[in-house]
Amino acid sequence: MSDTSGNVVLVRGLTKSYGATTVLKGVDFSVARGEVHALLGGNGAGKSTMIRIITGAASKNDGDVRFFDSNGRERSEAEGRAKVAVVHQELALLPHMTVAENIALPHHRKGTRLFKRSVAAMRAFEALRMIDEEFAATSLHRLVGSLTLHEGQMVEIARALSSGAELILLDEPTANLTALETERLFAVLRKLTRENGLSVVFVSHRMKEIRQIANVCTIIRDGRTVVDRQTINELSDVAIVEKMGQVAASHPEEFARPSARVLDATAERDSITLQEQGFTLELRPGTILGVAGAPSGPAALIASLTGAARTKRWTVARAGWSGRLQSPRKAARLGAGYITGDRSHKGILHSLPIIDNIMASRRIVRGTAIAGGSEGAECFELLKALKVKAASVWDLPNTLSGGTQQKLLIARWLGIPSRLLVLEEPTRGVDIGTKREIYQLIRQMAASGTVIVWWSTENVELLEVCDRIVAFDTEGRCAGVLEQDVFSEEKLVTLTGMAA
Ligand SMILES: Nc1ncnc2c1ncn2[C@@H]1O[C@H](COP(=O)(O)OP(=O)(O)OP(=O)(O)O)[C@@H](O)[C@H]1O
Ligand SMILES: [Mg+2]
Repeated sequence: MSDTSGNVVLVRGLTKSYGATTVLKGVDFSVARGEVHALLGGNGAGKSTMIRIITGAASKNDGDVRFFDSNGRERSEAEGRAKVAVVHQELALLPHMTVAENIALPHHRKGTRLFKRSVAAMRAFEALRMIDEEFAATSLHRLVGSLTLHEGQMVEIARALSSGAELILLDEPTANLTALETERLFAVLRKLTRENGLSVVFVSHRMKEIRQIANVCTIIRDGRTVVDRQTINELSDVAIVEKMGQVAASHPEEFARPSARVLDATAERDSITLQEQGFTLELRPGTILGVAGAPSGPAALIASLTGAARTKRWTVARAGWSGRLQSPRKAARLGAGYITGDRSHKGILHSLPIIDNIMASRRIVRGTAIAGGSEGAECFELLKALKVKAASVWDLPNTLSGGTQQKLLIARWLGIPSRLLVLEEPTRGVDIGTKREIYQLIRQMAASGTVIVWWSTENVELLEVCDRIVAFDTEGRCAGVLEQDVFSEEKLVTLTGMAA
């Protein structure tokens, strides 16, 4: 389908190289007016790179990017780009400005004469309200630097929605959103595409969401278009995964949940006990505890487990851990690992090479500060286990795709004998094939006796991998604990108050 009529953007034969590495090898892509178009592909396939070229954030080596207006007339590149809004994979907000100011930034660019606070606030309010009324009412004048990752994500989306763009490129926008917020976002997108002819490009590794929102898909594999504009209903999940070059649905027995973990006599002594007012949770070695629900509840629990809590809402007790874990460093020394959900700001060390990013917690745990001789080999093994293709371990992490950077954070704690491992959205941005491998790795760590506490906004993965799930309601309160034999998505939805 290379007919240009009805297209907002048309990409033909796009190529892009970084040094000696060619990452786009002649990509074709087109988006029609009023459609929600899923852009799919494994980690490192080239999705974000293409998006950056469309918006002008990166240059191309060869090929065409053409924009069209609603009459099918070609626009200049500058005009075309002015009608495009993007939510990048990593948040791009100014921390020292307020929510309203951040949302108003693009209007500013388009020549609104004066930056009027009241107008900016009004626009921001209208946009935010579309996703979360309460957040809109309370957050406009807060500094973005004080927001959680998840709130920041909503601000970014609101900015794109309010920008008056004809084409919105969403690069994994739902990664930090709860089920309810995602549902609201989808409702807004449906309305805008139907009523205003907005076009949306949606990148996600969550198959369920992709099917909910998109009608058409393009699949990129290894820098080439392998499926160019196909109706998504014509492709099965297995077909999509195979087109992406990944192993389709793994053998169920391989991922079978061990029905009862063999616990040795010391299990009870080595348990970790979590307590808050009137609520106790005992976690034996090897337990995988899922944490579900709106972010405030899980965040408080995780802060206590990682030594970052400022208040004493939760107490964490374990033989040999006297009192609270007092700092993240102390927690690490005690054998409590942590994979942050804020990859970009708190996880990745942007100015240090891949090897330092991977070896960071090993060095802390082992008390070695300098790369030892065997580190190279160890690092290589870890990269292999997570299927990370890096030209060199001395490259900086920003030469890796988003999902691949996530794998670095996982590698950081992989194979370290830990008593406790706290995971915040560890599979954020990780492609479908690799996700399954990560589930397997998490199970292995649990099998070796580590207690896993795992917060995810993706209920399906918690239900698939965990032994128990503690659910928090929208007020941040503990709503209950589900044991594996009574797991169901409906129960989780009811407990977390996320029923749409
Ligand atoms: N600045 C850079 N220098 C060198 N290589 C880069 C750079 N940026 C991206 N790459 C490489 O380009 C390839 C495509 O990356 P891209 O970020 O477009 O992937 P993606 O499809 O968005 O993956 P993901 O699903 O993980 O986000 C990757 O192999 C990545 O390592
Ligand atoms: Mg990407």
